[in-house]
Amino acid sequence: MTGLTSNPVPGRRSLTQISDLSDSEIVDLLGRAEIYRKQELGTRRFSDELKDSVVATLFFEGSTRTRLSFTLAAERLGARVIDLAVSASSVSKGESLKDTCDTVSALGADAVVVRHPNEGAPLQIASWTSLAVVNAGDGCHEHPTQALGDLFSLSSAFEGVGNLAAKKIAIVGDILHSRVARSLSALLGRFGSKVVLVGPPDMMVDRPSALGAEFSFDLDEVVGEVDVLYLLRIQRERIQGGYHSSIDSYTRRFQLDQKRYLRMAPKSIVMHPGPVNRGVELAVKLPEERSLISEQVRNGVLMRMAVFSKILATASDDRRSQRGVFGD
Ligand code: CP
Repeated sequence: MTGLTSNPVPGRRSLTQISDLSDSEIVDLLGRAEIYRKQELGTRRFSDELKDSVVATLFFEGSTRTRLSFTLAAERLGARVIDLAVSASSVSKGESLKDTCDTVSALGADAVVVRHPNEGAPLQIASWTSLAVVNAGDGCHEHPTQALGDLFSLSSAFEGVGNLAAKKIAIVGDILHSRVARSLSALLGRFGSKVVLVGPPDMMVDRPSALGAEFSFDLDEVVGEVDVLYLLRIQRERIQGGYHSSIDSYTRRFQLDQKRYLRMAPKSIVMHPGPVNRGVELAVKLPEERSLISEQVRNGVLMRMAVFSKILATASDDRRSQRGVFGD
């Protein structure tokens, strides 16, 4: 079956990684996000499109943007949101992930949004339960809705996803531990963008070509050639054994400072998924027209609305019709 990862319950779909999506589903999500933008549902209004749905949020790692964004996206579409405060939950008494998810399912949730330090946890939950599962970041693996929201931002900035084919996008920093780099490379490769992964050798993945990307250990070599500079933070919480590079050497070689910013092409733009470590990867005040960082946050809400709409509207339809209708 094509389409998002298939769950045991007909019609329930999950989004655990970019490869769950066909090209036409990605284009469909961009279209839905654009409709919500035009309806001002991302900023001002609420609808009742998903008024009978319940979304559970389970964040086993810290988050500001993703957690708030998923909550707001569900609420803008009229869904009820139940949030598990993991540190104050029965997880602290030894409850397993499966038992936690079975409990969420028994409470009547339709979808669960999960962030977890272990790679593959969302896919595991999708195999255990009939819940629609949305990956909000699993270890160093993937962060698909961040990448989809970023694709939406890029598509808007360059006036259509078709225009991304000619663009060169450098993703800079701790590539090795970045789930955003993995999801975004996979996604941009589908639309023909030229992706260059840039960072020190000890923060680089073994096989950049497996992500459809080129690589460079030298930001100065690429900074003047790119249409988009996508900065990452150093993912300290996922580093085992430390880095060879000191922060001083990292900032000297990979920080976007004033000097490097002035070498960028006049219409090129800077992106960052947040949180930004100012003074480490970024040390220049960017003019509004050259930064998509706030737009990425706003567009993240619209894209997560699109994902909920696609997953949950289909689940409700299927509960009524008892047949799968989702996919190509
Ligand atoms: N971009 C991102 O995942 O940010 P948070 O960790 O704040 O959710």
